[in-house]
Amino acid sequence: MKNEIKPATGKLGVLVVGLGGAVSSTFVIGTLAVRKGLSTPIGSITQLATIRLGKRIENNFPKIKDVVPLTDLNDLVFGGWDIFPEDVYEAACHAEVLNEKDINGVKDELKAIKPMPAAFDQNWVKRLHGTHVKQSTNRWELTEAIRKDIRDFKEANKCDRVVVIWAASTEIYLPMCEEHKSLATFEKAMKENREDIIAPSMCYAYASIAEGAPFIMGAPNLCLDIPAMWEFSAEKKVPIAGKDFKTGQTMMKTVLAPMLKTRMLGLDGWFSTNILGNRDGEVLDDPDSFKTKEVSKLSVIDTILQPELYPELYGNIYHKVRINYYPPRKDNKEGWDNIDIVGWMGYPMQLKVDFLCRDSILAAPLCLDLVLFSDLALRVGMYGIQEWLSFYLKSPMHDFEHIPEHDLFIQYTKLKNTLRKMIGEETIDYLD
Ligand SMILES: NC(=O)c1ccc[n+]([C@@H]2O[C@H](COP(=O)([O-])OP(=O)(O)OC[C@H]3O[C@@H](n4cnc5c(N)ncnc54)[C@H](O)[C@@H]3O)[C@@H](O)[C@H]2O)c1
Repeated sequence: MKNEIKPATGKLGVLVVGLGGAVSSTFVIGTLAVRKGLSTPIGSITQLATIRLGKRIENNFPKIKDVVPLTDLNDLVFGGWDIFPEDVYEAACHAEVLNEKDINGVKDELKAIKPMPAAFDQNWVKRLHGTHVKQSTNRWELTEAIRKDIRDFKEANKCDRVVVIWAASTEIYLPMCEEHKSLATFEKAMKENREDIIAPSMCYAYASIAEGAPFIMGAPNLCLDIPAMWEFSAEKKVPIAGKDFKTGQTMMKTVLAPMLKTRMLGLDGWFSTNILGNRDGEVLDDPDSFKTKEVSKLSVIDTILQPELYPELYGNIYHKVRINYYPPRKDNKEGWDNIDIVGWMGYPMQLKVDFLCRDSILAAPLCLDLVLFSDLALRVGMYGIQEWLSFYLKSPMHDFEHIPEHDLFIQYTKLKNTLRKMIGEETIDYLD
């Protein structure tokens, strides 16, 4: 069945929470550079990937962006919030991800993108001391102020639609509690200013959904991953996606673990450690923020390997994840994996991965794709958790009935089949 897709007319406002961060500035600069013809959108499915339409024999592989009505990069308008007042040009110079030549290519545009004051509470990100923050810490007032920001931005920039993406710091670990389980109890807790269970990120998410703007959670924060938000997004008919961008080490895991399972090879242990020296690394050096990340990173292997179905292969895995803040490396993370695998008749073998990656370079194209696809989902009339976007996320959100899908290639098939369905093409099962 073909969906009626509202056309991508007018401007799309892209509001980034954590606008001055390494990921955000790299995302904004790269997108502006691509649309000026100064760079290539490497890593972006929306900009580069093709999609097979029809039977194999038809040999028809158009680019996704040529057959799916995505918003044109020229129609994006950037804005957002940060706890520091620097414009994106200054922020990018501080982040030291991109070199001067690349930043200067779009300097004038970057100078004009200044963050709005943030909704921030230092108890939730202990290592940061923000100066550019909204005065109130009252959760309901903060939410109202963010809603006003979204409306004002939309009006000032003559935007047709807005998408909000969280690429701000990881908050401290927050387990789901009773108040998160329904919209009524959640709103009550906000109005009672329960600062202990309503994270600032939840204020952004609630505000965004209330304003009809899709919300994407790129950090492992609980935020959207609660029944109250699922209920609200269904009520307001707004798509939501999260959580935690799937970039370096976890992307490798979601490729290697399915390989082991497909070949029925066993696993004894998986030790992952990495060093990174950017601000994200500094925030994650705080045990409470690290806990949020650790939970997100640990969930992957068990869900892929299904130890309950294969106790002889995966019944006793030792899985450890470490993140070490090491300033000299800045954004250029190095991640090591030691994987102890088991073969025929129980003979042990080892796999070693040394991934010298650049965190923000891997995350930026994901931001672009998530923004464009969430906007597409809104125009298609899809709402609630967008499971088809799990491909981009380390801890794909799911309701209580469904188990998450972590396998990168199954996720990719789901993404493409969803696109095929949207444009009235046959989904593909690879039997032809
Ligand atoms: N780069 C990756 O590969 C990757 C992968 C998965 C998740 N992430 C997550 O993406 C996020 C951003 O990463 P980064 O390297 O850009 O970090 P960063 O520290 O450079 O940027 C985060 C920005 O958020 C701002 N901020 C913090 N709290 C805020 C609030 N309440 N409101 C508005 N702004 C706020 C900070 O001032 C900072 O500018 C982190 O949570 C990180 O864990 C990154």
